[in-house]
Order: sequence, then structure tokens, then C-alpha cells
Amino acid sequence: MSVRPLRFGVWAPVHGPRAAHHDPEEPYDASWEHNRRIVVEAEALGFDSTLIAQHTINPHQEDLDQLETWTSAAALAALTSRIEIIAAIKPYLFHPVVLAKMALQIENISRGRFAINLVNAWNRPELEKAGIGFADHDDRYAYGTEWISLVSRLISGERVTHKGENFDVRDYALRPSDLYRSRPAIYVGGESEPARQLVAAHGDVWFINGQPRRDVAALIADVAARPRLGPPLRFGLSAFVIARQTDEEADIAHQRLLALAAQDAPMRAVQRANTDPKVVMMQTMQKTPRVGSNGGTAAGLVGSYDTVARRINEFHAAGIELFMLQFQPLEAEMRRFAEEVFPLVGRDQSRSLIARA
Ligand SMILES: Cc1cc2nc3c(=O)[nH]c(=O)nc-3n(C[C@H](O)[C@H](O)[C@H](O)COP(=O)(O)O)c2cc1C
Repeated sequence: MSVRPLRFGVWAPVHGPRAAHHDPEEPYDASWEHNRRIVVEAEALGFDSTLIAQHTINPHQEDLDQLETWTSAAALAALTSRIEIIAAIKPYLFHPVVLAKMALQIENISRGRFAINLVNAWNRPELEKAGIGFADHDDRYAYGTEWISLVSRLISGERVTHKGENFDVRDYALRPSDLYRSRPAIYVGGESEPARQLVAAHGDVWFINGQPRRDVAALIADVAARPRLGPPLRFGLSAFVIARQTDEEADIAHQRLLALAAQDAPMRAVQRANTDPKVVMMQTMQKTPRVGSNGGTAAGLVGSYDTVARRINEFHAAGIELFMLQFQPLEAEMRRFAEEVFPLVGRDQSRSLIARA
């Protein structure tokens, strides 16, 4: 498989720290100011991408602060010049015409660096308490598939007429269309069978939850083999990194975070109760003790700088192009990663690595 050059991204801290909430080294901060500082610094350090997850209410504890994704994406687009900005979207929250219009505007503000990450919902109260309702897992994917088929055509500048199960759109075209490329990129996060069908049919990049390389390789083999129109699908991996001088030091840092994360058990229990049990992502995440969301340290990027670099290269050889990374404490550890690991994976810092759709 021919894989594009490695790219590295950082999850924006939209709901504070990713590993543990009671960490003296990382006070809870989901503010706009914190997110702005992190993303601007990530760009300066040479990171290629950032992912702004979408939750209208905090999925761990409802009374905690939560960053709004789309307004923040627009502001970040104006404040940066090189980094790719990926905004997550749950289809039920926006009509496809409105969302497509917003995506094209942020693409324009960013001068061709914007992408959407289509995600299916798992946190029931977010939709239920809004009165939107929480459809069955596969029905949500059927809705999402019709939704993205419309968004994809609209952000490509097509004039769209469509009558389907959920939408009735007539003779609709958005202007200006994309000024920089054919359309913003489409990522998809989700692991179930309908998620795989959706990304094979409509996505550019499939985001895989962090897990061991053999499992990731099997997922890539499954989805890459599916028939699709257009260029081959690309692959991204979510992972939580703990990189230190030695494997032992990294293990100690991992143990520190695991112990802190144990204090979040009551909060996690509420989260579990709120989660749709059919969501495959949550089943995957029960398999290995880990810290971080979306697989976290289960991807194995824990160890000495050399160990982490070697594992990244192995994932890259298996087909992963983009690593969307979590750290804690975020600012210090993303700096360390840029200083210590970037040189070991031989990336050319002078290159502009924004992938074009
Ligand atoms: C990289 C990545 C990012 C994700 N971001 C979000 C997000 O921003 N908001 C959200 O509610 N779910 C997010 N998810 C979770 C997916 O929505 C989740 O996989 C889905 O709810 C369940 O689908 P599944 O059964 O196909 O795994 C993300 C998943 C991945 C892999």
C-alpha cells in the first residue's frame, strides 16, 4: 500500500484534559483562550492538523465547560495559516444545507485548510434532552449517510435536488463554492459496520480508534478492500502519547495517569450509563487498560522516544497517514513530542503538509 507522508495532529482540549480530570499538572480548562493557545502553538511547533471534537454538552459531566466546535473552528481558521482544522459534526445537530454553507465559509476563511469529521452520536442526553431524539445505532447511520451525501455534493458546488427518507432539497446551490480545491476534506470517525460502509462510500479519511497495530491493520484491510468511487481511502489513528527518555520513565508516567484516572470512576460510570451500548467504539475501549479517549494509550505510543518513533513508523507502514494525538499535560507534552519525536520519524519540517482533497 502506498501511504502519504506522515502527518501529526493534536486533539483540541474542547473538554479539558483527556486522561484524567484531577491532575495537579493539568487543571481543567476547556476555555476558548486555552484552545486558541494550544492550536496556535501546535501550528508553530510543526503539527499539521487539529481535531475539534463536537459535544454541545460535556459528555463526562454536564456541568463542566465545553467548547463550541464550529464557531471555534471559524476563529481558529482566521488565527492560523498552515494547520489543517478538522471540525467534528453530528448530523442530527444541523440541517445539511446549513452545515455545508458553514463548512464552505470556514474553508474560505482558512484558505483551503478545513475538513469535517462526521461522527455518529453516542451520548444519549445530548440529543434526547434537546428533544431531537436518539434513534437506534443503525438508523443514526442511515440518517448520517443521507446527510453526508447531500453535504458532500453541496460543498462540491453542485446544484442539488434530492428527495429522500429525511431530506427534501430542491435546486439548491451554494456560492461561492470552494475557492481552493474541489471541496473540504471529509473524515469519518466510527468503527461499526455501517460506519465502514459510510466512510468507504463518502469519506476521504477514516479515523480509527487507538488500538494495537495488528487490529488496526485488520480494520484497514477490511475497509480498503471495499469498492468506492474516487481516490483510495486514507487512514488516521487516534492515540494518546507518553514519550520519555526511557521506556521505564514512560511507564511511570503512564502509571501516574492511570492512578489519577481511577479518581474519575464515578464520572465514567455516568458516561457509561449515558452511552448507547451498541456503539462499537466503547466496546473496543473496554479491551485494554488505558488512558485517553478514543483508544488512548491502547495504541501503544508509550515508551522511550525511540520506541514511540518505531511504533509510529510501523503504523505508517500499515497504512496510517495521520496521527491525531492526545497528551497530558497537553502543552508541555506536545512540545516534548515535537522536539524529541519529530526528528526521529524523519519528517521534513519545512514542508507544508496539508493534504488536499
Ligand atoms: C477520531 C474520532 C473522533 C471522534 N469524535 C467524536 C466527537 O467529536 N463527538 C462524538 O460525539 N463522537 C466522536 N467520536 C465517536 C464516534 O462518534 C463513535 O465512534 C460513534 O459514536 C459510534 O460509532 P461506532 O458504533 O461506529 O463506533 C469520534 C470517533 C473517532 C474515531
